[in-house]
Amino acid sequence: MSAILIDGKKVAADCKKLIAEEVSQFSGRKPGLAVIIVGNNPASRVYVNGKRKDCAECGIESYEYALPEDTTQEELIELVHRLNEDENVDGILAQLPLPDHLDADDVIYNIVPDKDVDAFHPISVGRITLGKYGFVPCTPYGVMELLNAYNIQVYGKHCVVVGRSNIVGKPMSMLLLHSNATVTIAHSKTTDLAAITKQADILVCAAGKRGLITADMVKEGAVVIDVSINRNDEGKLCGDVVFDEVREKASYITPVPGGVGPMTRVMLLQNTITAYYNHINK
Ligand code: GUN
Repeated sequence: MSAILIDGKKVAADCKKLIAEEVSQFSGRKPGLAVIIVGNNPASRVYVNGKRKDCAECGIESYEYALPEDTTQEELIELVHRLNEDENVDGILAQLPLPDHLDADDVIYNIVPDKDVDAFHPISVGRITLGKYGFVPCTPYGVMELLNAYNIQVYGKHCVVVGRSNIVGKPMSMLLLHSNATVTIAHSKTTDLAAITKQADILVCAAGKRGLITADMVKEGAVVIDVSINRNDEGKLCGDVVFDEVREKASYITPVPGGVGPMTRVMLLQNTITAYYNHINK
């Protein structure tokens, strides 16, 4: 058996089209997303360019604040406070990682929760834990939408999440739990990872370690979602899953690239629309 390929590019394009149609109906001010980037991290520059393009395609205004590497914490916080008050700005995102001399947590805490489209603020995290979602972190949100698009039921399933980051592993586990899955979180200190992953009906891999998940670690017919973006020895993008062998065992599998990545981008637009509605209805 060869797994059905989950086409994140297609699902993301369909979602984007719906968002663009929705935004085109708005009269007056369009939704606005402010993106802060500090320094010259090349990967961050690529991500921020992608966000600008996505916004433009959907009729969302994007405001980019590209600050020099030597920006101080005070300058950065001052900008965040200004954007908190800016009536044209519905969502604020500080592209991570920040240069080492800056405190990312302090920046996140200073974004008003109403504009926290990354859902990284402790209030957003608390809401997710309580199942009372405002904003949903973009990558886990994208995974849920992919499962939904392929009619993959989560209710009652055993979901194993490999990775416990604040951005993916932890919120992913919460979203699955609130969808009535039984959730196990595995991580780099888990003993006998294979014994855990083999129990998964749905396996979400977010460890950031290429080659980590081999076919012998996957149950026949499992759904395999690969969130990670790594590079192989030839410099090509790959996930945590050894795709060619695992696809022969899984029922559904996401490729890297073209799986979860495009969904993450779209869910940021969705959160910006949510922020816009909340803002205009305040
Ligand atoms: N850097 C890598 N991924 C992300 C993300 O989801 N949000 C922000 N703000 N920075 C990132």
